[in-house]
Amino acid sequence: MERKPVRHLLTVESLRPEEIREIFRIAHELKARWRRGEYTPVLAGRVMALLFEKPSLRTRVSFQSAMVQLGGSSLFLGEETGLGKREKLSDFVRVLCRYVDVIVLRAFEHAKVEEFASYATVSVINGLTDYSHPCQALADLFTIEEHFGTLEGQKVAFIGDGNNVARSLAMACAKLGVRFVMATPPGYRFADEYVRRLVACGMTGGLQVTDDPAKAVRDATVVYTDVWTSMGQEAEADRRRRDFAAYQVNEILMAQAAPNAVFMHCMPAHRGEEVTDGVIDGPQSIVLEQAANRLHLQKGILVWLLKGGL
Ligand code: CP
Ligand code: NVA
Repeated sequence: MERKPVRHLLTVESLRPEEIREIFRIAHELKARWRRGEYTPVLAGRVMALLFEKPSLRTRVSFQSAMVQLGGSSLFLGEETGLGKREKLSDFVRVLCRYVDVIVLRAFEHAKVEEFASYATVSVINGLTDYSHPCQALADLFTIEEHFGTLEGQKVAFIGDGNNVARSLAMACAKLGVRFVMATPPGYRFADEYVRRLVACGMTGGLQVTDDPAKAVRDATVVYTDVWTSMGQEAEADRRRRDFAAYQVNEILMAQAAPNAVFMHCMPAHRGEEVTDGVIDGPQSIVLEQAANRLHLQKGILVWLLKGGL
């Protein structure tokens, strides 16, 4: 019997806009049911494994809670399972796929997640790599749409490092037709090749990038930032603090965005670096709603991948 090709979620780029819309639709429906206190055990009997090479609060717990609330269960696999250490990666993956229905993997190198997925016979979800963070970006666009009631007319200004979060956020905006601008110092911007891919995926007019945060936030309805030093870059922290000093999202910068602008951050935040307490705890901040939506969006992803729909 021929096996159906398995679908993975490794990047936002791999999703068609209508597929993102379908994930949002499922997530909205499940969130509404959850609010009414309804239980939807559509994934009863299904098992999710999680493998994390880096720390995590939001991604790990939202995926595990999502699975429980959908009637399934999850296994958080520790280092002793020996990912990439005890046996060939291909052996590890092919065996694991015989026990579980879906795998969430957080790794340093994106190439490792790609290699892992190439051996997998169940769906693999990228729970963050140095290159991308697709589940975060999908939850972010879902949150923006929920907050404003529509994505139409929104402008996202990303201030800071052109990192994994920025890359996925930009791609999600390109796919869904949302204006995206970034203020990033030279040396920390996207590779030209990635900019070409953004354009090919719908970022009409190219990527707008500036070294002036005030210019980027003009008319922006969403001001977004992330840490200057990502997990694994700790040795560069001093240099990065100097290079990004002019890129802090503070009250003065927020005042220059659209009057109805919101502040977003994927968290964890390094308060006092990329964002001030006054902004992240202030009236324009929707970071907790954003974090909360990781749970609902992960449900959309799991149901879409495992069942094809609700
Ligand atoms: N935003 C995010 O992915 O957070 P964690 O690193 O805590 O999972
Ligand atoms: N850019 C950050 C995101 C954490 C969710 C990091 O990779 O550490």
